[in-house]
Amino acid sequence: MTAPDFSAGVPEDLDRSTGRAPSGRPELVPESVRLDGRRALVTGAGRGIGRATALALARFGADVAVCDRIDVDVARTGYEVAGLGRSTCVGVLDVRDPDAVDAYLAQVAEDLGGLDVVVNNAGGGFFSPVLDVSAGGRHALIAENFTQVLDVTTKCVPLMADGGAVVNITSIEGHRAGPGFGIYSAMKAAVENLTRTLALELADRRIRVNAVAPDMIPTPGDAGLMADSAAVSDTGWALTPWPDEGHPDDVAAAVVFLASDLGRFVTGTTLHVDGGTMAASGWKRPADGGGWVL
Ligand SMILES: NC(=O)c1ccc[n+]([C@@H]2O[C@H](COP(=O)([O-])OP(=O)(O)OC[C@H]3O[C@@H](n4cnc5c(N)ncnc54)[C@H](O)[C@@H]3O)[C@@H](O)[C@H]2O)c1
Repeated sequence: MTAPDFSAGVPEDLDRSTGRAPSGRPELVPESVRLDGRRALVTGAGRGIGRATALALARFGADVAVCDRIDVDVARTGYEVAGLGRSTCVGVLDVRDPDAVDAYLAQVAEDLGGLDVVVNNAGGGFFSPVLDVSAGGRHALIAENFTQVLDVTTKCVPLMADGGAVVNITSIEGHRAGPGFGIYSAMKAAVENLTRTLALELADRRIRVNAVAPDMIPTPGDAGLMADSAAVSDTGWALTPWPDEGHPDDVAAAVVFLASDLGRFVTGTTLHVDGGTMAASGWKRPADGGGWVL
């Protein structure tokens, strides 16, 4: 290996004082991930992935409006956002209620002056084979995992500045079958598809629309579902290809990336935060190591 020859001085095309190539666009620097001055909204921010995401957005500099149907939980997240020195707007509401969403977003617009980032995180379900779900249960699952995402997004986009970002929290279940969670899975798949269409329809405004699809992130909601369904039994198989357990912050990190300028050319796609489950597509191995089997 030979050392570079600096004897000729700074090359003609580089700025003499900085040694950098001049360019018409902002440089990619560590600060590109910061969200100072951005205004974000996170639904379902009282606990789990939503809470971790709200706090991460605040730590990276954003003001963060947080809503949830559980008052004590979302109040706590609001205090935590404020404790990080950011503005917030706390809402106690069920995002399936369009009137409540209207009232809350009016408050967000007044308190934060608009939005740059919208994270559709609220969602969930219950265990039941598809054909056993009652008409009421069906309606609730569709509203919880699809209709409210469409409603919240439709109402937030007019409040958003050009150059903003929408991030929809979907699921590995939107990419495969979901026995016992069939309607939830179908609705997450619908949000995945909606994400792609909105990415095209909002490109002229430079609003990027992406999904983050988690799997195996320990949260209160996930623990409850797993206990109800017994879908994760102690069979001796590793839960994910990745050897360590996931954390809500892993999902929050993906949202921060997509919300920031680092993701400026990323739209209409899905970031899988799942320890390799999507890649495995059925391949598994014993928890204590060993070969991959189908
Ligand atoms: N944890 C995982 O491994 C995992 C995997 C796949 C997808 N997800 C998705 O991630 C998102 C967050 O899940 P989590 O595991 O953090 O769940 P969680 O139940 O621990 O937290 C969800 C939060 O959203 C709130 N919420 C739910 N529905 C609401 C509604 N209609 N109105 C207002 N608030 C509502 C809840 O009160 C709760 O505070 C969900 O969309 C879920 O489908 C999670």
